Amino acid sequence: MPAPRAPREAAGIAERTAERLVALCEELEDTDLRPCPRVDAAFGELVQLCCHPPTGCTATVLERVAPHIDRLRGLSSSGEGLMEHYWAGRIATAADPGAELERFPYLGNYLDLVRLELAALTAVGHATPRRVVVLGSGPLPLTGLVLAARHGAEVLHVDRDPAALDSGTSVAEAVRIRTRSLCADVSSTVLPTDLTTEIRRADLVLLGALVGADAPAKAAITARLAAAAGPDTAVLVRTAAGLRTLLYPQVCPADLPGLDVLLEVHPRTDVVNSVLVARAPR
Ligand SMILES: C[S@@+](CC[C@H](N)C(=O)[O-])C[C@H]1O[C@@H](n2cnc3c(N)ncnc32)[C@H](O)[C@@H]1O
Repeated sequence: MPAPRAPREAAGIAERTAERLVALCEELEDTDLRPCPRVDAAFGELVQLCCHPPTGCTATVLERVAPHIDRLRGLSSSGEGLMEHYWAGRIATAADPGAELERFPYLGNYLDLVRLELAALTAVGHATPRRVVVLGSGPLPLTGLVLAARHGAEVLHVDRDPAALDSGTSVAEAVRIRTRSLCADVSSTVLPTDLTTEIRRADLVLLGALVGADAPAKAAITARLAAAAGPDTAVLVRTAAGLRTLLYPQVCPADLPGLDVLLEVHPRTDVVNSVLVARAPR
């Protein structure tokens, strides 16, 4: 068994990790965040460091990096959107869109995340969902595409950004996966009737990690989802834990009084997001 780290050594590792995270933040702020070798390398290192930090330093690093958390999350969210638009364009215009999709570097993460989410649903007694609503599906809606193509689900993609929805539809058409789409802002105080109808009929409503900037925003959104949900609708809320909260907003079961949270899953693999499986109170 390795000897425990001396406190001074552990503090030094935490200090260097925090310094590196801030340096990566500055490096990314010096770019336009569009995919290119420099941006890809900086995001790659940032994600790797947040997913697999040195053992035992998470609390100290989070304390040190706290003043930069909004900058880091902003960069991650903008970078993810730009990367998805870039890859969606590549896939939609490729001679062989299916082969181009296979080249997307994070495809494996989506396959792993969806498998984990379906396993989490199974663990609380849900069958594989047949009707799914994905909220905040984005320009490259891989979650919905994987659920439709590999698990036979009928998928509705929802996004407030018409350009993201158009991009997602182009990808789905290019790879010949049938999905539907609806433009709506799920943060609005009243959800459109066509969306509430879809939510009521769905087996699963999935709230993307970037929908709702913080826990209070997610509490308000999920309270409205709970009001619209049918008796058998599962609600899956993507979140983050540990240093991964530098990349995505964090939300805990206690932050969501409008839902009954049944299960909380925190991967320690390359899957970045944690998952809360919930339902409307009965
Ligand atoms: C960058 S994409 C990434 C999705 C990511 N692949 C995932 O699985 O979470 C996030 C999308 O969420 C959408 N979004 C954010 N807030 C939203 C809201 N309140 N209502 C609808 N869509 C929203 C954005 O327009 C964006 O297209």
